[in-house]
Amino acid sequence: MTPYKIPFNKPLFFGSEIENVKDAIERGQISGDGYYSKKCQEFLENILGVPKVLITTSCTHALEMSAILLELKAGDEVILPSYTFVSTANAFALRGATPLFCDIRRDTLNIDENLIEGLITERTKAIVVVHYAGVGCEMDTILNISQKYNIPVVEDNAHGLFGKYKGKYLGTFGRFATQSFHETKNFTSGEGGALIINNKEFIQRAEIVREKGTNRSRFFRGEIDKYTWVDIGSSYVISDILCAYLYAQFERWQDVQKKRKEIWNYYYNNLKDWADENRIGLPFIPDYCDQPYHMFYLIMPSLQKRQELIEYLKSKGILSVFHYQPLHLSEMGIRVGNGKCSVTEAMSKLILRLPFYFSIGVEEQKEITDLIKAFKV
Ligand SMILES: Cc1ncc(COP(=O)(O)O)c(C=O)c1O
Repeated sequence: MTPYKIPFNKPLFFGSEIENVKDAIERGQISGDGYYSKKCQEFLENILGVPKVLITTSCTHALEMSAILLELKAGDEVILPSYTFVSTANAFALRGATPLFCDIRRDTLNIDENLIEGLITERTKAIVVVHYAGVGCEMDTILNISQKYNIPVVEDNAHGLFGKYKGKYLGTFGRFATQSFHETKNFTSGEGGALIINNKEFIQRAEIVREKGTNRSRFFRGEIDKYTWVDIGSSYVISDILCAYLYAQFERWQDVQKKRKEIWNYYYNNLKDWADENRIGLPFIPDYCDQPYHMFYLIMPSLQKRQELIEYLKSKGILSVFHYQPLHLSEMGIRVGNGKCSVTEAMSKLILRLPFYFSIGVEEQKEITDLIKAFKV
């Protein structure tokens, strides 16, 4: 049990997940690629309009799969933001590639598209973008660079399922995109993820990589009469029990998004005047981006004020949290990567994320915003 009256996160849970899990068990296949795995994949393929989705054990694993599919090796370079979760870099470092850390924009906290070209060398093999808080990166510019230099883009869309950039779903721009269903995300199976494959020619190899380097998927479809080891790979297939759980939430995806929009708007509308008066930043959503309402944050005026507000809310039983530490300054980042990112360093000290989960009530949000407005900045 969390010691907080209002925790930072409560995993989404409707109750119908249990019925689905029971059904998956009764169907008699609880390993991967059973009834519910296919339901989840088809659901995402239909909504996003993409050629193939493979449900995986995590977003981290989907990123590892994309690094394998891009055939990355020692000496290759990958451009990615320093302001992101470890896995965005680790998945590529695992193949021996060097992360080149790119700085972020002050407004969206997304990779600064204007700095990407300056980092490209003849060793650059991928550009990895993270749609922070599900707000789209500047994909027009990024795709132009990708085409100009013939360097594939991978979208780490851990936060951004159902977000859009200029009317097109996030996750549909890169050669590959990855999703997370970790318990902190809008939709969850506890742990879980997905690899989105936007270029058909990679589907067959992706299935092999996901199935321990074997052609088992083709065998199960009856296309070959036995399966064998054909490539490198690992165990990235997720149990059908978890997919059954996840699918119950997909069945109500519009309810989830509607409620999360209300939560986000409540914070924004109740904090906007206070934020303007006190020079506090609130999330910036370009008008051509539809956000999936994953996160609500404040940009505080100083590290000290941020820490004081976190402590103050904690003393009232409310957990608010900071976010990523710059990867280019991390022990491993210094050892295997490269880059100077001053905006990342500045912004990572100022950000404070507020409690945000489906079951949070208006009374709880009122308590949080009243306390914040009473806090002396
Ligand atoms: C941007 C980003 N990428 C990747 C991940 C890893 O996701 P997972 O826990 O599903 O491996 C996270 C985790 O929150 C994340 O924030």
